[in-house]
Order: sequence, then structure tokens, then C-alpha cells
Amino acid sequence: MKKLAPSILSADFSQLAKDVAQAEKGGADFVHVDVMDGHFVPNISFGAAVMKSLEGKTQMPFDVHLMIENPDNYLEDFVTDNTAYITVHQEACPHLNRTIQHIKSLGVKAGVSINPATTLATLDFILDDVDMVLVMSVNPGFGGQKFIPSALEKIRELAEIRRAEELDFEIEIDGGVNLDNVQEIASAGTDIIVAGSAVFKTADIEDTTKQFVKKIRSV
Ligand code: DX5
Ligand code: ZN
Repeated sequence: MKKLAPSILSADFSQLAKDVAQAEKGGADFVHVDVMDGHFVPNISFGAAVMKSLEGKTQMPFDVHLMIENPDNYLEDFVTDNTAYITVHQEACPHLNRTIQHIKSLGVKAGVSINPATTLATLDFILDDVDMVLVMSVNPGFGGQKFIPSALEKIRELAEIRRAEELDFEIEIDGGVNLDNVQEIASAGTDIIVAGSAVFKTADIEDTTKQFVKKIRSV
């Protein structure tokens, strides 16, 4: 079953738990947590404390997306009872294998993400070890950007590699997803779909979430 992970980057931080509760009522599967450090990406979002403010306030697992340099220094901070995945960027990890093993040693699932200009080949020797691959369909740093179509090619290729090599990682896409393109994205072989502004910057978060869920479940 394909899953929806609304990104709280586009939520109203003054009423974060309320916005998240609406997405949960609409049937969302994960809370996507976008952490930006102003170094790896040209924007600062929030850290573990903000994420932890949601602990116990939602049943949804956290899908943590670290857009930060030196993630190894901060991994422990993001482990909570809700944390399901911690994903790091291939481009930010010179010792990616070590970082992935570090995440797993904390008892959570490990993901790796690649930027739009990074090739799948950079993941050849790590695919065996990861629980998820997050394909960026925008240049990370900001919500509300336009979907980069070449991400679909990557998703299809990745799904084919997974099939051919009998691997079992999840495939996630992140950036520029909206109600008009979500079905095509889901059909390409994506398992987990992130949507930020298209969920939280709408008048009725619960109803919009329902529409997303309906579309992805019908693929
Ligand atoms: C981009 C973030 C995304 C972002 C998606 O740097 O990783 O998760 O919040 O936002 P939208 O869905 O608005 O493109
Ligand atoms: Zn993200």
C-alpha cells in the first residue's frame, strides 16, 4: 500500500500539533520532518526539539529527513518513540556506510537521499544496506518548488534495480508533489510520497489529505 507523508515544513508552527492532527484525521501515514541546517541547504528550518513537541501528540510515525552536514553528530537527538526512519543525504556523508550502520544501531530504519543532480550509480554499494531511498524531485531547501520530471525516470530505474536484485528498500519521493501529479508519481513505483505545501497550505488540511490518500491508494 502506498503511503502519504505530509511535510510539516509547510505547517503553521504556531499550531503544529493541530495541523498534524488534521492530516492524521485525513488518513496520512507519516509525519515528514524536514531538518535544514543552513549549510547543506541554503535555509534553516527547525531541529529535534520541534519534532519532539509532537511526540505523544500523534500516532503517526516520524519520517525524519536530515538536510544537514555531519548528521552523525545529531542522529541520537532524532530517536523518539515515534521515529520510524532517519534519512541522510548521500552528498553530505563521506562515510555513508558508517552513517547508515549508525542509524540502524539506534533501532530505527535508515534511509539515503539523493539530490536531483546526483546519479543512482552513487548508491550502487549501499542499496543492500538501506531501508529506504528518498529521491529528491526539487533541490532541497524550500517548500513550494516545482517538480523536476527527471525524478520519475530515477524512480522507475530504482524500482527496476530493486526488482532485478531482489532488494526490499522503500522508494520515497519528495518535492513539488500536488494533487495533479501525484498519481503519475505513485504509478512510477513510489512507495512513500511526501507533500508539504500541497497539504498544509490549503484551507482544509483534513479534506486535502483525504484527496491525496484516495488518489495514491487507487494506483
Ligand atoms: C524540500 C523538503 C521537502 C519539502 C516539500 O527541501 O525536503 O520535504 O518540504 O515541500 P513541497 O511539497 O511544498 O515541495
Ligand atoms: Zn523532505
